[in-house]
Amino acid sequence: MRHLIAGNWKMNGRLEDGSAIAVPLRRGADGLFVDLVICPPATLLLTLSAVLIGSPVMLGAQDCHALPHGAHTGDLSAAMLRDAGATWAILGHSERRANHGETDAMVQAKVQAARKAGLRPIVCVGETEADRAAGRQNAVVGAQLIGSLPADFEGVVAYEPVWAIGTGRTATEADVAAMHAYVRASLVRHLGLPGQTTRILYGGSVKPSNAGALLALPDVGGALVGGASLNAADFLAIAQAAHEVAAPPVAS
Ligand code: 13P
Repeated sequence: MRHLIAGNWKMNGRLEDGSAIAVPLRRGADGLFVDLVICPPATLLLTLSAVLIGSPVMLGAQDCHALPHGAHTGDLSAAMLRDAGATWAILGHSERRANHGETDAMVQAKVQAARKAGLRPIVCVGETEADRAAGRQNAVVGAQLIGSLPADFEGVVAYEPVWAIGTGRTATEADVAAMHAYVRASLVRHLGLPGQTTRILYGGSVKPSNAGALLALPDVGGALVGGASLNAADFLAIAQAAHEVAAPPVAS
């Protein structure tokens, strides 16, 4: 199966940094059996869409507003982001849920807006450390999925345990496998047949040294990478790991 590796740059990257990362990605992505997306700050989308023209590396936004236009100072609609060159959008990231009070219902409205504008959503779910300590990680993630995804959802889900984001602490392979199996079962219940093939990404301290093992787990359809996506060599090493898992070299 072909993996999707998405880089979430978060609030990082000035003009010169954007090209410094995107130019080597453009070169390194050739011939890799993997789908690659970078999600820079919205200020860089237009510039990077020119840098990446003709390249398989795609662009994504980190959020969008649920409405197409109006009096929403500082916000960007899905169609504006599409205009700037994005074809994907990360929605419901835990940092937006925590810092901007985004609820499941708000995330679902954004998913609908993204689809309408031609952006493919990457919807994030994940439990906090306190949720996991209390053994309620499945209940929390299950409720986020039902609340955030419309019944006709088409897109990607990213499981990102909040305690593994930016901490260097990756979930164990057993925890990732268990949660991805749970997310898969929930998606099939909620979406029916399409839920069987919805890609489920893992996110949380993914780096070149752990990517291969994580991407080889059942029901892990790719990775949502934060910190390591700000370094072209690291991001490409993760892409290479995905390539090797999906298309192992043929023994002679
Ligand atoms: P890190 O890879 O830096 O842990 O970030 C993960 C993340 O939040 C991606 O959306």
